[in-house]
Amino acid sequence: MPVVRQAQFSDLEGIVCVHKSAFEGFFLTLLGPRFLSKFYSIFIEHSSSSLIICEDDDNKVVGFAAYTITPDVFFNFMKKKHGAVLGTLMLPAILMHPLQTLRKVIRALKYRGDQTESMSGYALLSSIGVHPSVKGKGIGSQLINFMNNDLRAREVTAVYLTTDVHDNAATLAFYKKLGFSEHSQFTQSGEREMYRLTNTLDN
Ligand SMILES: CC(C)(COP(=O)(O)OP(=O)(O)OC[C@H]1O[C@@H](n2cnc3c(N)ncnc32)[C@H](O)[C@@H]1OP(=O)(O)O)[C@@H](O)C(=O)NCCC(=O)NCCS
Repeated sequence: MPVVRQAQFSDLEGIVCVHKSAFEGFFLTLLGPRFLSKFYSIFIEHSSSSLIICEDDDNKVVGFAAYTITPDVFFNFMKKKHGAVLGTLMLPAILMHPLQTLRKVIRALKYRGDQTESMSGYALLSSIGVHPSVKGKGIGSQLINFMNNDLRAREVTAVYLTTDVHDNAATLAFYKKLGFSEHSQFTQSGEREMYRLTNTLDN
């Protein structure tokens, strides 16, 4: 039976593998495996964030989630401490696809979690992915439940995430089933319609 636990640095290869298949064609995926590995390692490193995995009976990573209880502090830390390395790791992708990446890189530099003032104190679910070969088997739910329990233990009362408004019915159904509801909408980079979804963590 698949088991969820906190990730270790040795899990990063498996996490990157799941990310690449779950988020095919997405901006972060385009930045390459070395970038992804560094990016996710920071969720292990920082005290306000967590990286969790779901592994199957053969100890293979089949799903993961990354979250932080202080998005603003966390992304500031990421930029200040690791910005130079992350910048170097994304250079090949920028050179290969300058038009696709440059605008998004500029947005990433300003990114602090897309939180509104009314969401102060909310944790951010930054990323969740399940390998396509095991989708629909309850692994995503297991990851969310583990995260919710961890957040409750850290006295966090609510969690939010951002996700696409369009062509995203399955993911929206997943979040709705897990108790998330629409908080607000915004336009990312002047073109991508996004929802902010929130979930209250009852004790
Ligand atoms: C979204 C994702 C994490 C869900 O993980 P999962 O393990 O497939 O989800 P679960 O099996 O736990 O599904 C739980 C519930 O969500 C809903 N759901 C999941 N997939 C669905 C689908 N394709 N269509 C409709 N509802 C769906 C169902 O209500 C399901 O409950 P049920 O099986 O009792 O009906 C996974 O599909 C994924 O990695 N997708 C690609 C990456 C992604 O979009 N991540 C989110 C970015 S914002």
